[in-house]
Amino acid sequence: MQLEVIILAAGRGTRMRSRLPKVLHPIGGRPMLAHVIDTALALEPRAVHVVHGHGAERVRAACDAPGVDWVEQDRQLGTGHAVECAMPRVQADSHVLVLYGDVPLTRPDTLGTLLGGLEDGPLALLTMEVEAPTGYGRIVRDDAGQVCRIVEEKDASPSERAITEVNTGILAARAEPLRGWLDRLDADNAQQEYLLTDVVGLAAAAGESVAGRRVADPTEVSGVNNRVQLAALERAYQLRGNRALMLAGVGMADPARVDIRGRLEHGEDVWIDVNVVIEGDCRIGPGVTVGPNCVLRDCELAAGARVESHSVVDGARVGPDCRVGPFARLRPGTRLDAGARVGNFVETKAAAIGEGSKINHLSYVGDAELGRGVNLGAGTITCNYDGHAKHRTVIGDRAFIGSDTQLVAPVVVGAGATVGAGSTITRDVGEGELALSRPRQRHVSGWRRPGERDSEA
Ligand code: UD1
Ligand code: CA
Repeated sequence: MQLEVIILAAGRGTRMRSRLPKVLHPIGGRPMLAHVIDTALALEPRAVHVVHGHGAERVRAACDAPGVDWVEQDRQLGTGHAVECAMPRVQADSHVLVLYGDVPLTRPDTLGTLLGGLEDGPLALLTMEVEAPTGYGRIVRDDAGQVCRIVEEKDASPSERAITEVNTGILAARAEPLRGWLDRLDADNAQQEYLLTDVVGLAAAAGESVAGRRVADPTEVSGVNNRVQLAALERAYQLRGNRALMLAGVGMADPARVDIRGRLEHGEDVWIDVNVVIEGDCRIGPGVTVGPNCVLRDCELAAGARVESHSVVDGARVGPDCRVGPFARLRPGTRLDAGARVGNFVETKAAAIGEGSKINHLSYVGDAELGRGVNLGAGTITCNYDGHAKHRTVIGDRAFIGSDTQLVAPVVVGAGATVGAGSTITRDVGEGELALSRPRQRHVSGWRRPGERDSEA
């Protein structure tokens, strides 16, 4: 049977108290709606229709994906009306699954089970047992245990309010009968909305059996109405992902203190310490260790690399067995070849650092190319910016740059050259040369400090 998914995402989300449309608030660094679209696509449907309204353009721009059909709902007249907006695009022989843009953590397997319910009848509901059902639509069953309708909280009698089996909102239906039920909806209820839930009563009244499937894990059907709920789902999402990573061989000091906001590819025996945030697309080779309080963003760490505590690796490629940090910042365009070292309080940007080269302390290296075995002393700075344009610094193999050197780019230091500490290098240094540019040291004997002179007077 062919599947079409309808995702409801038109609501404003007033309780987020945000200018960002609700469904664009992120879970794991991606809009909630993008997660729901992924889940829908995982079911290999014929089409995914997203019903959107508030912030329509932003929503489309942020979540567009091949195979997504965008349907506008100008006025939000209720969940039933929202589904109706998409129905003209749905083919007659399809099975329809209704999901929500603010319910991001449903598992495709669970939805597969729900869709299985359509083998026995035209309508299947995903329900859940809860201790405190306040706010949910309640599932009303008859004496034989058959689902006969859903009653919304605001319309429920006291005895109906005591029901603890609730509607998750997610349902599946055969397209043709669904179309018929939607046609017959009215807004004659406390909310004066066209309620999708009313199709259940219509189906049951027509003698159809309604399949109820209970979901065990409430996070799968939890929705987000405010930032407290968003944070709770973020935790659930992180824990779910980190558990999967640990089972795949990634060691973590504490899975509650590693956040992945993107994709992580990894080799064997990776170790991640506490308070690490991983963003974008990161690839980490076997045996890599990441110390506490690090941020990795869109980077590659090759086998055996070590990133020590409090380092930021952003848009950089770190070669095998390199050491980075503690307190290092690698900015986009940094490339470290095998065994290179970047130590504390070093910032690099658009810098290629050759095999075994070292920048161990307090440096800025930008728009630079270092050969192999180069040593940059503490406090070395590439002056790459003249206030107008950026210029390159090139340093040959095995060059030794003394501490506190300024390399005023564009400048080239040849292979094997030595630069004396404290130099300001403004002209190219030839291969094997020594360059020094500091004033000669002076000595004044018998010098007295101003205070000492005063007391003598
Ligand atoms: C809905 C169910 C309720 C269930 C609960 C679970 C209905 C009538 N009730 O209630 O039984 O227990 O979910 O959370 O379905 N939306 C639109 N367009 C509209 C109206 C809503 O896109 O015209 C979207 C909203 O953005 C929202 C979602 O549909 O994300 C649910 O709508 P809402 O009115 O919040 O339903 P609930 O009161 O949560
Ligand atoms: Ca809601």
